Amino acid sequence: MDVNISIRRTQHSRLSEIDFSSLQFGKHFSDHMFLADYKDGKWGDFRIVPFDYIPMHPSIMALHYGQSIFEGMKATKSQDGSPLFFRPEMHALRLNRSAERMCMPTFPEDVFLEAIHALVGLDGGWIPPQEGSALYIRPLMYASDEFLGVKPSENYSFLIFTCPVGPYYTKRINLWAEPHYIRAAPGGVGAAKTAGNYAAAMLPSKLAQEKGYDQVLWLDAIHHNYVQEVGTMNIFFVIENKVITPPISEDTILHGITRDSVLTILREETDYQVEERPLRMDEVVEAYRKGELKECFGSGTAAVIADVVRITFGEVDMNLPDRAEDSLGRFVKNYLNQLRAGLRPDKFGWIVPVRMPQLDPSIS
Ligand SMILES: Cc1ncc(COP(=O)(O)O)c(C=O)c1O
Repeated sequence: MDVNISIRRTQHSRLSEIDFSSLQFGKHFSDHMFLADYKDGKWGDFRIVPFDYIPMHPSIMALHYGQSIFEGMKATKSQDGSPLFFRPEMHALRLNRSAERMCMPTFPEDVFLEAIHALVGLDGGWIPPQEGSALYIRPLMYASDEFLGVKPSENYSFLIFTCPVGPYYTKRINLWAEPHYIRAAPGGVGAAKTAGNYAAAMLPSKLAQEKGYDQVLWLDAIHHNYVQEVGTMNIFFVIENKVITPPISEDTILHGITRDSVLTILREETDYQVEERPLRMDEVVEAYRKGELKECFGSGTAAVIADVVRITFGEVDMNLPDRAEDSLGRFVKNYLNQLRAGLRPDKFGWIVPVRMPQLDPSIS
């Protein structure tokens, strides 16, 4: 691949200051970051530099009008210590789907992939070895015109930085099915990984947390009854021998890469009937009352699989038994973790070993 990325290494690695056994999510940043600029209709100046602040003009458009999109992916270490990515090309594609929806330029997929290989190749020592830990990778694109006025920006910045992280949830989670506030509506931006979606979720999430819930279970904007997704996860319900998850066709939920992987594993490796279809909370409640709601779990890069212990929908409080090792969620979680650890054959071709950077003469 012929992508020219200049590399300036840090003179002062902070790696020795990190305690991998007590990592707070999103709080620690590794030594380097990748940067690129969009000017005159094209991306260029691909570079890796020491992680640092980014200077900003007060009128920078992303801050005012929200043209800002991002991704979230992970590098982990297999059992033999070799670093790897999980379906990285899917993140490049989703970034570009978000870009199109937010009227931003797409980023060349080959440069995206080369950049994460170079960055993680350089900062591979920052991947925590403990099970459930990872190097979280955050690609970010934002409008960088220095201008006030609502129009698409002409200049953009793209960057990628990484954070060593521990497990996201260490316990089963409580969900508040939100009866009033909404996250996404048909025709809106729910399927884009754009900053405003997360800003809009903050007040309802805070209110739910004050009531003792971990996350909001988002419902549709019209009936407040069809299930959408959860915080930073897609959602699966196991009803008798069926596994049901909402469809991505309405573009109201994020096209989760873990969701897609879970669907593949369920279809290929279990006897469950897998359904991607609209699911009403009324149906969930009815199944619960009949004793048919076996389990519910969320799927996402950060949490992998999060088992749900309780869902409250209006007056109905549903408490789900802990099926522990018998649960489907646990099976899928173990499957994904074993793939990453190299303990299971990669039959779907999802695991991509990290390549070391091709060092060029501009490296210092
Ligand atoms: C809103 C939302 N839904 C779902 C997901 C899960 O997507 P993925 O499995 O690609 O991490 C995420 C995380 O990126 C998210 O932010």
